[in-house]
Amino acid sequence: MAGQVSFDFTGKRVLVTGGTRGIGRGAVEAFLTAGARVAVNGRTDQSTNAALATLSIEAVAAPGDVATAGGCRAVVAAAVAELGGLDVLVNCAGIATGGPVDGVSEETWDAIVDINLKGSFFCLQAALPHLRASLGNVVNLASDAGLIGEVGLSVYCASKGGVVNMTRALALELAPDIRVNAVCPGYVDTDMVRRDVIDAAANPAAAEAALKASAPLNRIATPEEIASAILYLASDAARFMTGAALQIDGGTTAGHPRQA
Ligand SMILES: NC(=O)c1ccc[n+]([C@@H]2O[C@H](COP(=O)([O-])OP(=O)(O)OC[C@H]3O[C@@H](n4cnc5c(N)ncnc54)[C@H](O)[C@@H]3O)[C@@H](O)[C@H]2O)c1
Repeated sequence: MAGQVSFDFTGKRVLVTGGTRGIGRGAVEAFLTAGARVAVNGRTDQSTNAALATLSIEAVAAPGDVATAGGCRAVVAAAVAELGGLDVLVNCAGIATGGPVDGVSEETWDAIVDINLKGSFFCLQAALPHLRASLGNVVNLASDAGLIGEVGLSVYCASKGGVVNMTRALALELAPDIRVNAVCPGYVDTDMVRRDVIDAAANPAAAEAALKASAPLNRIATPEEIASAILYLASDAARFMTGAALQIDGGTTAGHPRQA
């Protein structure tokens, strides 16, 4: 594929939460292609097994809901039982609901923060003994919405801002043995954007054009483009990187766009 970078993860054991579709699925496929053994986490047995059945290279199942600490421990335990250890944890499971502040319920706040922020923390905590043994590393899915604000997404922004600064704090705490980095994508062509934002809009074509225009590079990303950055951060090529929040957003967070 044009623009594809190759990495060698032969012998490495990788867990991708939220690996059944979208960016997580892109990361799963890229790690498998790079020679890794991969545990795929989806929220249920059914979604996880359905995803595994469609992969062209075999992966193993680590199903479970990462919205609770107990769920995170079960997911990591399942992955380690299948893989015999862990070299890389990718915290990709996430949701992006919300809406204007007036209508946000406590349930919505809890759901977003529990999956996006708490889940990333407790999956890392559960993985720590295994990552210490392998001198492994963690890649967290933050967002451009963790670096700048976005109207109607205040809770999502809070959760992703939390992921960015939690990444920095844990990078300091776990150095020099375990690296912890984050990727900050802009809009990516996944269910989260295609199904829930573009297709759900009154005028999908106008909604897609507006999303594209919000990035100076004038398009939305593919899951493969985010997966490349995840593999880079997880690889030895990034061995001097920790605590980074790497933007892959077509320039969205670079500053004010060119004025007409
Ligand atoms: N799509 C974007 O534009 C975009 C931009 C920036 C950041 N992100 C982040 O990237 C990550 C992946 O997003 P995506 O676009 O691929 O979304 P997606 O909706 O396509 O996929 C989300 C994945 O998370 C899983 N998931 C959700 N809740 C879960 C739970 N409680 N337990 C276990 N798994 C759960 C889903 O099953 C799915 O596999 C998310 O953290 C998201 O916030 C996405």
